[in-house]
Amino acid sequence: MKLWGGRFNKETDKAVDDFNSSISFDCKMYKEDIEGSIAHVTMLGKQGIIPAENAETIKAELGNILKDIEDDKIEFSLEAEDIHMNIESILIERLEGIGKQLHTGRSRNDQVALDVKMYTRNAINDIKGEVKNLLSTIASLAEQEKLTVMPGYTHLQKAQPITLGHHLMAYFQMFKRDYERLCDCLGRMSLCPLGSGALATTTYPLDRHLTAKLLGFEGPTENSLDGVSDRDHVAEFIFDLSMIMMHLSRFSEEIILWCSDEFSFIRLDDAYSTGSSIMPQKKNPDIAELTRGKTGRVYGSLITILTILKGIPLAYNKDMQEDKETLFDAYETVKMCLPIFAKMIETMTVNTEKMRNGAKGGFTNATDAADYLVKKGMPFRDAHRVIGEMVSYSIGEKISLEEIPLSKLKEFSELIEEDYYQAIALETCVNERNVYGGPSPDALGTAIDNAKRFLESL
Ligand code: ARG
Repeated sequence: MKLWGGRFNKETDKAVDDFNSSISFDCKMYKEDIEGSIAHVTMLGKQGIIPAENAETIKAELGNILKDIEDDKIEFSLEAEDIHMNIESILIERLEGIGKQLHTGRSRNDQVALDVKMYTRNAINDIKGEVKNLLSTIASLAEQEKLTVMPGYTHLQKAQPITLGHHLMAYFQMFKRDYERLCDCLGRMSLCPLGSGALATTTYPLDRHLTAKLLGFEGPTENSLDGVSDRDHVAEFIFDLSMIMMHLSRFSEEIILWCSDEFSFIRLDDAYSTGSSIMPQKKNPDIAELTRGKTGRVYGSLITILTILKGIPLAYNKDMQEDKETLFDAYETVKMCLPIFAKMIETMTVNTEKMRNGAKGGFTNATDAADYLVKKGMPFRDAHRVIGEMVSYSIGEKISLEEIPLSKLKEFSELIEEDYYQAIALETCVNERNVYGGPSPDALGTAIDNAKRFLESL
């Protein structure tokens, strides 16, 4: 007989049990469910809503059930529908009448709202740890590659020389914001829905402040309808996860390009790449590709949760049971991607020579050549045109800007002198970009110091 079977005259159809049941996935929340029940029953005992000794008995048995689940001694039943009723049924089986008092002044609606919120809080803390680990990996790599000159791109066309350290630190900033976003999300999850009841609280003298405190919340939610129907934090967390994946995916795309034969900027470690079943020479960047691919899956979860929530009236509706699989999948996907991605970049080998040569080609010092003329007194727009003509000439001659002889340079502008060559040398181009936030070793050093300080503050 179902825990709610009193008003029913027929057994539930087997197909309905299959359709309705969520135990196959919400069993992941067993710990949160038991923790919530322990807080609830502690409060019931303290408030004299049930006898204090019964509350103690229930608490102790919930502890036993937790242990039995962790020791794999418990088989959940589909008929008991979800994790909440499975645990309650086991409790009643073991304690009979006393067990039946646990659900006093509570509904599965506030129970599930609480479990999902607690699960999400734990998941956020988990992902924060993985993002922090990736941030440290990036900061140490950037330090190592502080002087590794490479071409910077816009439109995937060579633009200006930068360093690999500078490039990597751009990703540091993205993942730092992701970390902060996770903290913000946690900050908006500080109120406890337990005690909201089915939708309108209850007539028992619940102490919601006590249960909130016992469960590590700052206080109880302010409105019982909102308490049971709010899943904003699920949507917000999955958005944060989507943003992390978007950043990982951009990074992946660069890794994939960089280890192509055409770029050859990096080589992935054998342990972090894969082969082909037919082409013996192949070494593929599967981790980066899968990360890029899984981004779509996490975005899918975001659309799923937003769509589930968009049309449901207050308060609880069964649609909300669909929040869990999408939350679990997004969380587990990102939890898998972050550490393996960090390992992949930590173990890659950088081809310093290739990067440097890449920065030499493609007229990446043309801006510096124009700036040279500006510093000699020419207005920037004129300088831009003169250097443009020099670039056009060099393309025709198949040479670089620094290979034009001084006599020829003079034909383009009388202002050009011998110091031109030093002014457009690769190292000068990087070192002179010493503005805050720029690629020069000094400016980058400041960024890396700030990054380290941020990591230490966590
Ligand atoms: N399994 C349900 C869920 O995940 C629990 C809440 C059900 N409440 C109800 N009144 N049917 O949303």
